[in-house]
Amino acid sequence: MDNHLDAIQTEALAVLASVHDQAALREWHAAHLAKKSPLMLALGDLGKLPKEQRAEIGRRGNEVKRTLEAAYGEKEQAVQAEALARSLGENAVDVTLPGRQPRPGHLHISTQTLRHIYQVFGEMGFQVYEAPDVETDEFNFGLLNIPPYHPARDMWDTFWLDNPQGGGSRGTLLRTHTSPGQIRAMREMVPNPVRVILPGKVYRYEQITARSEHQFYQIEGLAVGHGITLADLKGTMLNAIHRLYGADRTVRFRGSYFPFTEPSVEVDMDCVLCNGVGCRVCKYTGWLEVSGAGMVHPVVLRNGGYSPDEWSGFAFGMGMERSLLLKYSIDDIRMFYGNDLRFLRQF
Ligand code: DAH
Repeated sequence: MDNHLDAIQTEALAVLASVHDQAALREWHAAHLAKKSPLMLALGDLGKLPKEQRAEIGRRGNEVKRTLEAAYGEKEQAVQAEALARSLGENAVDVTLPGRQPRPGHLHISTQTLRHIYQVFGEMGFQVYEAPDVETDEFNFGLLNIPPYHPARDMWDTFWLDNPQGGGSRGTLLRTHTSPGQIRAMREMVPNPVRVILPGKVYRYEQITARSEHQFYQIEGLAVGHGITLADLKGTMLNAIHRLYGADRTVRFRGSYFPFTEPSVEVDMDCVLCNGVGCRVCKYTGWLEVSGAGMVHPVVLRNGGYSPDEWSGFAFGMGMERSLLLKYSIDDIRMFYGNDLRFLRQF
């Protein structure tokens, strides 16, 4: 019987020596250490042996079992180590490779365009004046000569931040245009002449489509001084348009209406795509609207602290995104706020 146990051990260890992976290891365990293995069967049969042999054979049987279990444990570790070494060899990581350089970003197309506009107007003596996005009804409308219930309020769909009830004059809102900044700039600079542009986001309570967003940029301009005339407005707009859109652009002024200017004009340029011939983009008119503008209304001058008897001024307000759509043939205004890098990287 002793010989039988020795044979079991020798045989098991010999087979184990040729095991090199998990599957073979599991097979080996089933064959040599599980319930139906020769060893376990031998140990189970102890009771059938003559009494005097039982202790001796039982002891030897347990010895073989411990030996095999120990060998199994060692083999298990060896197999794992081998598997690890194999996978490292196959999927080698080269730690000497230089790291990847982070790619430097660049300014958003809107920021680039704003800076270009600052430069063009800066060279004409305009400084940039920042005004708040959250405004009061008074600044956004009232002080700009749009009293409560004035029908001109319908020109701007408004995001109210509180209840506009109670005459409307106590309401807080997201500015619908950059024009309220005119009052703030004048009140800060009075009694000095004013020459500022007021860039920033404006907000309209509107359906978002490919052509209109509920937020977009405007650039407001304001000049207040002695003897400023419509000719100054025309010269300024003409120069700005030539610098921004090319020296061969034709510019036209046509009568319009805004409550805060008198007279009011609309500034157009010939279509950048068809050069005035007429196309889908300019709706076959040959012209594109660039800006609303006009001579600052006497009421607005007074609200800014300037006497209309001594001072005059011009103002304009132009949207930014729409002209970019045209310049770069972008067909969806939502791209400006979508943060899609495939779009942004093109500029
Ligand atoms: N605030 C006007 C708007 O958002 C644009 C505008 C028109 C601004 C005429 C002006 C101006 O300063 O003189 O529709």
